[in-house]
Amino acid sequence: MSPNSAALRPIHLDDRRSGGGGILADVMEGLARCPKSISSKYFYDARGSDLFERICEQPEYYPTRVELEIMRGNIAAIAEALGPNVRLVEYGSGSGLKTRLLLRQLEMPVAYVPVEISRAALAESVAALGREFPDIEMLPVCADFTSPIMLPRAARAPRQTVVYFPGSTLGNFAPDDALRLLRQMRVEAGQGGGMLGGGVLIGTDLVKDRVPLEAAYNDSAGVTAEFTLNLLVRLNRELHADFDLAGFRHRARYNSLAGRIETQIISNREQDVHVDGHAFHFAAGEAMQVELSCKYTLDGFARLAARAGLQVAEVWTDPASQFSVQWLTCT
Ligand code: TRP
Repeated sequence: MSPNSAALRPIHLDDRRSGGGGILADVMEGLARCPKSISSKYFYDARGSDLFERICEQPEYYPTRVELEIMRGNIAAIAEALGPNVRLVEYGSGSGLKTRLLLRQLEMPVAYVPVEISRAALAESVAALGREFPDIEMLPVCADFTSPIMLPRAARAPRQTVVYFPGSTLGNFAPDDALRLLRQMRVEAGQGGGMLGGGVLIGTDLVKDRVPLEAAYNDSAGVTAEFTLNLLVRLNRELHADFDLAGFRHRARYNSLAGRIETQIISNREQDVHVDGHAFHFAAGEAMQVELSCKYTLDGFARLAARAGLQVAEVWTDPASQFSVQWLTCT
């Protein structure tokens, strides 16, 4: 393959999403639970992905801004830790701003393998990255990274595979699921080909006071509320549900005991909602769980990583220790 051929050929997008059945079965099961819950992965339809990008621009939402500052301030050290000829796998590719920084700084990266559930977001980001980095093999996979998937190998042999997982997305999983996901990343890093064991570059949000945390998830412009309620818009459209948008509101509170933000959709009144011919009853004030955002201490995160066979090799933080970017290597 000549160096520029990737730019001339359209990038093939490997679509591994299961059909509509997944979302219907998951939502029916979640609505039958007590308390009701819906997996946060369903936030990210095309509109949800757009709204999420706008959340990241809100002044109260510090994680994106601070993570970017950490990446910018330490990019040379980060690239040095990862080394040359990396096959970079990214879970949940998003807008690719941080990825771009990384791909620019890394020494001769071999391939970029973004795994993203939103086809629109994936196609857009990989097209832009493909133009900017014609020498890096682009191997996008449209899939839910929460179940194990076989990811494509690179044409050129990498020195090691690095799984990049920015945005504190790991915090959106309950501890057992976070552990399972870290183990899956460790397997991917170890099996992607290459001479070295590989590693994981991950963003983790840190425990802090309630006030900035709750502000981050309740921005004054209401973008987060719109993002949360867009889940109901999606269910109405895709599952022919009949959620009355005026009958529900967004709520995000910090559970300091568990060290996590809990985002819920609250029913404003007593009401019935129908999904696929089944009625589900909501009491007035009833909370449906839609997202967890776990916050970590550096020690707590190191213990979690160790249980997944990963060792904290380097930690980069901002001066106020709001957020961290960590380089974990396989033990
Ligand atoms: N990973 C992000 C976080 O937990 C996702 C997110 C930001 C989010 N704001 C949200 C998810 C509001 C649901 C609701 O910080």
